[in-house]
Amino acid sequence: MFRSVSPIKNNSTFSARLLAWHKRHGRHDLPWQGTRDAYRIWVAEIMLQQTQVAAVIPYYRRFLERFPDIAALAAAPQDEVLRLWSGLGYYSRARNLQRAAELVTERHGGVFPRTLTEIQALPGIGRSTAAAIAAFAYGTRAAILDGNVKRVLARHFAVAGFPGEKRVEMRLWQLAEEQLPPRAIGRYTQAMMDLGATLCARAKPACANCPLASSCRAFALGRVRDFPAPRPAKVVPTRATHMLLLVRNGEVLLEKRPPSGIWGGLWSLPELADAATVRAYCRARYGCSIAAPQALSPLAHGFTHFKLQIQPLLCRVGKLTPAAREPGQIWLSLDEAHGAAIPVPVRRLIERLLA
Ligand code: ADE
Repeated sequence: MFRSVSPIKNNSTFSARLLAWHKRHGRHDLPWQGTRDAYRIWVAEIMLQQTQVAAVIPYYRRFLERFPDIAALAAAPQDEVLRLWSGLGYYSRARNLQRAAELVTERHGGVFPRTLTEIQALPGIGRSTAAAIAAFAYGTRAAILDGNVKRVLARHFAVAGFPGEKRVEMRLWQLAEEQLPPRAIGRYTQAMMDLGATLCARAKPACANCPLASSCRAFALGRVRDFPAPRPAKVVPTRATHMLLLVRNGEVLLEKRPPSGIWGGLWSLPELADAATVRAYCRARYGCSIAAPQALSPLAHGFTHFKLQIQPLLCRVGKLTPAAREPGQIWLSLDEAHGAAIPVPVRRLIERLLA
């Protein structure tokens, strides 16, 4: 007599096995689960685009407490939105989120849109994020393809090539769509995310516990680690900058960054190409004479496309003549500066002064 050895049958479909696994082993208590409110789901998906679940949770709670709905976000000062985002990185996500909230107000009467086309037309929302939001909020039958899902599919179907290549990506989209179950799209979407984030992790995949192992081609070939193929090696350029910590009576001078580009709209430190010009710069721009600046130990910050090598220069000044305060500049106490909308490496520098 036939006896099933596993509660998850190996001959059932990809999606059926995944759903059965998720019921017992998936994540069911994340703060953005158990809601159909598209706004709350959208905020979570944007935060989770480049940030891990554990890091997102406290930011998500604070953000929603301050901006409980689309109207609150659309009406908020950008500085406040960036302040609550400060530390999560990739700040264009926050600027796009707020811009999109304004567009939802203008175009859709403040109600988050329902169709994939309308959702994807909002800034910061690509095809996969639009599908995730629609699946969770409305049960729309659409496939997602984030980094984790690409890994699951590339392994399961032994898809060769780097997923960042158009041809490979198109094949993965096709496979993602082919596996969609007829129903339970929200649960299936979460299950794909969870499998990719847990068992089918990049390093040390736990194939012995995987509900898909029996049909996984990479597993059968003994080549799980070969999929997906890594990004072809590319040398990331380094950019050097000097950051000026101009400190007066326990206050530090911050400057507002231009609205777009790196750290757009955040408060940051004045930057100089080299150390030799600091004194002339301070005299010309801030009307202050300084003793030779003190070079603090350098700091590196990685971006996707380059590495920023920062040489911090500390200048303590008594008074400024005339008291320099141009538009886009602000003097803040070190404590206030630490809590302001500032980039992570600037916060690290301020922490050094507070220590
Ligand atoms: N990564 C992206 N979206 C996610 C979600 N909804 N839950 C867990 N991890 C995610």
